[in-house]
Amino acid sequence: MHSLKGRDFLTLKDFTPEEILYLIDLAAYFKKLKKEHILHDKLRGKNVALIFEKTSTRTRSSFEVAASDLGMGSTYLDPTSSQIGKKESIEDTAKVLGRMYDGIEYRGFGQEIVETLADHAEVPVWNGLTNEYHPTQILADMLTIREHLGEIKGKTLAYMGDVRYNMGNSLMIGCAKLGLNFHAVAPKEYFPDNELVSLCNKWAEESGAEIVMTEDIKEGITGVDAVYTDVWLSMGEPDDVWEERIRDLTDYRVTMDVMRMASDNAIFMHCLPSFHNIDTEIGREINRKFGLTCMEVTDEVFKAYEEPVFDEAENRMHTIKAVMAATLSDDWEI
Ligand code: CP
Ligand code: NVA
Repeated sequence: MHSLKGRDFLTLKDFTPEEILYLIDLAAYFKKLKKEHILHDKLRGKNVALIFEKTSTRTRSSFEVAASDLGMGSTYLDPTSSQIGKKESIEDTAKVLGRMYDGIEYRGFGQEIVETLADHAEVPVWNGLTNEYHPTQILADMLTIREHLGEIKGKTLAYMGDVRYNMGNSLMIGCAKLGLNFHAVAPKEYFPDNELVSLCNKWAEESGAEIVMTEDIKEGITGVDAVYTDVWLSMGEPDDVWEERIRDLTDYRVTMDVMRMASDNAIFMHCLPSFHNIDTEIGREINRKFGLTCMEVTDEVFKAYEEPVFDEAENRMHTIKAVMAATLSDDWEI
């Protein structure tokens, strides 16, 4: 039993491999209870605040459903209906919310914002995505890998696209800590920052994982067990970089040819939302401007490999539940 009670969950850098695996096991336990309709509302009487400075479907729904399943109340605070950042500092907000709530989720911009919240709120703070990290997503990804590939350690995951942002950074950390080989497959300007790569190489040495950075698609993808990608332009980035991203990353789109290079049983993964067709406002706009009908992944790959992707989305809820449960109470016997 790993007591995480009272801890913040800001980045996986702060957690040992054993603690990360404990959260994944706890999530699998909650998933089983949920499927069997067994109530697990031990946190009755508690309340959580959910701050979203960026939009969300999965993360917000996961926090709200998980809080409700655990017996807790939740309050959703969006940027237009609160004073956060405009009329009230993050420090003051943390002090106020910390007196009313038992835990605070934050989704927004720089990692320093969620760190400031954590420094000043005397309750656990959970990172629901910043520009730098998306740690709850990685727990869901690892649970999905374990469900589909049988194990995490010793498998190989290749990430294609912009590896320098929240998803690439966080996956590299998670893989390094859990012994999953990590291949960053991208133009070299899109490789993660050297300091983070060095830290991850140290963890990888302990876990037995290998971290590879390559611009060569064949080298990066041949024989891998999972091919992961994410949008080329993340929330909060300016629209005028679309052109440059499309120019730089089109060769790194996940196509059927890419999937054929991977191992026979390879899975395709995506944190979602994904631009695999033009059924969205942004998709149509990009289509009008650049003539593309998909971006980071073709519709053919997305449709052919969608099951693990939607399992990943479902697993957001079970893993977020585990994070809240473990940081708010010790009372879980799995
Ligand atoms: N994957 C993810 O975080 O999705 P949302 O942006 O919908 O929360
Ligand atoms: N990199 C994406 C992840 C979305 C879940 C973004 O930050 O928009």
